[in-house]
Amino acid sequence: MLILPRHDLSQLNTLGLACTARAWCQIQSTEALVDALQWADAQQLPVVVLGQGSNVLLPPVLDALVLQIAIPACQVIGRDGDRIRVKVGAGENWHQLVEKTLKMGCFGLENLALIPGLAGAAPVQNIGAYGVELADFVSSVTCLNRLTLEAAELSRQQCTFAYRDSFFKSDAGRGWIITDMVLDLWQQAQVNVTYGGLSDELQRNGITEPEPWQVKDAVVAIRRRKLPDPIESPNAGSFFKNPVVSAEKAGSLLKKWPQMPQYPQPNSSLKLAAAWLIEAAGWKGKSLGPVAMSEQQALVLVNRGGATLDDVLDLELAVQSAVDTMFGLRLEREPLCYRLDGSIIS
Ligand code: EPU
Repeated sequence: MLILPRHDLSQLNTLGLACTARAWCQIQSTEALVDALQWADAQQLPVVVLGQGSNVLLPPVLDALVLQIAIPACQVIGRDGDRIRVKVGAGENWHQLVEKTLKMGCFGLENLALIPGLAGAAPVQNIGAYGVELADFVSSVTCLNRLTLEAAELSRQQCTFAYRDSFFKSDAGRGWIITDMVLDLWQQAQVNVTYGGLSDELQRNGITEPEPWQVKDAVVAIRRRKLPDPIESPNAGSFFKNPVVSAEKAGSLLKKWPQMPQYPQPNSSLKLAAAWLIEAAGWKGKSLGPVAMSEQQALVLVNRGGATLDDVLDLELAVQSAVDTMFGLRLEREPLCYRLDGSIIS
């Protein structure tokens, strides 16, 4: 285990915020994770776990030991009925994992192609796209307690997955570090093309009975077109969650804004499109200092160069106020935002 002091994280977060960590270490195994946690404890340093930094907002200085989880694994460990059970290490690159599982004949993750980040971060915010959520496939998640150093295997139910949310985002859940998980994928192709934009894309390409790899390619094509590339335009993906409102609130909004997209949810509430709200409030493509809401997708905040956390929080507040004034809705931040001491700003 090699712990590096004063490590520059500006290339290790996709929003490209300048950040120096007090110490940094790459973790290849659960044993190394235990060693690193013991080292941090002896130094009385907080620990921050960073995946690929694609869903975080970092302060200029992080007075913590930052762990880059690189635990590998992608192997079939069993079969049960129509499912095939795959063990996945937290350090696997998510998109490469989607491609690997398809090549191995394990289906289901194709709609989640090209989502930036590592597999270990996927359960934290229950990544979802194009009609599929990670929760649809999780059998269990193995994690290590930061304080007691004991390992636990949480069932899907114990992970309490919800839209962009899970146990791991709660105060109790933050005490655990994910090391690996078990996914129950399909043994036979079983594509899900219910999401409007996805079926349109396939139809446009003349594909009527898509194979999983064709779904994957269609998702990749849509994402490349719709979302700014973090390499060219540093960003952290969707910056706000899509608000979920009661049928009553949705109805009153629709009276005033008949064009407003609304998507029915299972419990009679409705999900609104934050991108639409931001665009309607005049913030699509608009900058504040060195940051902007993307011209391509209003929901994505981009760093035009040299931005700090304060710049990001200023724009967040400006967009939230504009949307609140217009629609009486409060947009909630999606990426995790860290303070200097490694705690999370909610
Ligand atoms: N829209 C606008 N203006 C825009 C962009 C979109 O009005 O600039 C409208 C569209 O017309 C559409 C609606 O907003 O009616 C939804 O747009 P989209 O299909 O692009 O999805 P989204 O709600 O903006 C969510 C996820 C994405 C995921 C896509 C596809 C959240 C917070 N975001 O975005 O996830 O890829 O659906 O399933 O739920 C991410 O987490 O980083 C991410 C990109």
